[in-house]
Amino acid sequence: MYDLRSDTFTKPSDEMRKAMYEAEVGDDVYGEDPTAEKLQRMAEEITGKESSLIVSSGCMGNLIPLMIKGGRGKEVLTSSWSHIVNHEIGAVASLSGTLPVLVPSDYGIMKASEIEKHIHGYAYDMSESAIIETENTTSGIVYPLDELQRIRELADRKSLWVHMDGARIFNASVDSGVSVREYADTASDITFCLSKGLGCPAFSILSGDHDFIEKAKRIRKLLGGGMRQIGILAAAGIYALEHNVERLRDDHEHRKAISEALSGAGWADVVISSTNMIFFRSQYDMDRITAAFRSKGVLFLKEGTMGRIVLNLNISDDDTDAIVRIIKTTGAEDFR
Ligand SMILES: Cc1ncc(COP(=O)(O)O)c(C=O)c1O
Repeated sequence: MYDLRSDTFTKPSDEMRKAMYEAEVGDDVYGEDPTAEKLQRMAEEITGKESSLIVSSGCMGNLIPLMIKGGRGKEVLTSSWSHIVNHEIGAVASLSGTLPVLVPSDYGIMKASEIEKHIHGYAYDMSESAIIETENTTSGIVYPLDELQRIRELADRKSLWVHMDGARIFNASVDSGVSVREYADTASDITFCLSKGLGCPAFSILSGDHDFIEKAKRIRKLLGGGMRQIGILAAAGIYALEHNVERLRDDHEHRKAISEALSGAGWADVVISSTNMIFFRSQYDMDRITAAFRSKGVLFLKEGTMGRIVLNLNISDDDTDAIVRIIKTTGAEDFR
């Protein structure tokens, strides 16, 4: 099976498993796991933030800032495409109590000028804008750096916090040539995932100023995310940051080849093709299309009415050639 459902399906390589096996560990709740500490220091180097914290998942990396800077009667300005709105079981509202305000966007890319129209200042009868949330990449699309800078400028002017969901910030960085640090500079805090294109079995990192991360540690504990000998997993994170970042370029090249094949197939209308993701529509029923491909050994998901393909570490150059051949030999007769 060629698994294109998500980059979360990646499996740790033998080398990564070896690094995990050899990891020095301690009790991280007491701050005594040397491998976890090393990973956190690496994240600070990469993001340029004062402090960092390992969190169990991307969802936790998004929820903690909302709990610290949002809360009842406060608003987070975000796009209708954002992960916090669509794929986190409503934790933004149910656990943090923050009200999401949906800012019109172009497939998740918001403009500072549009965000500004939705900002509420203090009024006795209004919820108060507190956070702007940017997601980079969003549906695989890289946020333009200058727009992020305008958003940060706006946030500073209005005394708002900027949280960046950088689950796939390394995909953005290798694609655009903009460093993760430059992206992180446009946000007050940033979270990024190790468990997606970078190929780790778990974990995300949350980075921000010292005071913010001290608060984040307490909330991580509150949410049941204080873990003990996590160096075993942190070692996978260190391995990934050292070996798997540049490799994301391969995923992007594979995406281009597959996107080109889809565009030429006659039954797919590619809507988004960026970094490691493709979204496409079709005149045929998407359930039938996914079923036809499954029968030929290619797995991908239907999201809304669109097909979604995500390139990842488990797909090699040869696999990509094979997938392209399957696309080229699949057509309307297979979808009936
Ligand atoms: C953009 C984005 N943010 C956050 C997350 C949440 O990550 P996790 O599944 O580790 O909770 C995901 C997961 O796919 C994501 O795509």
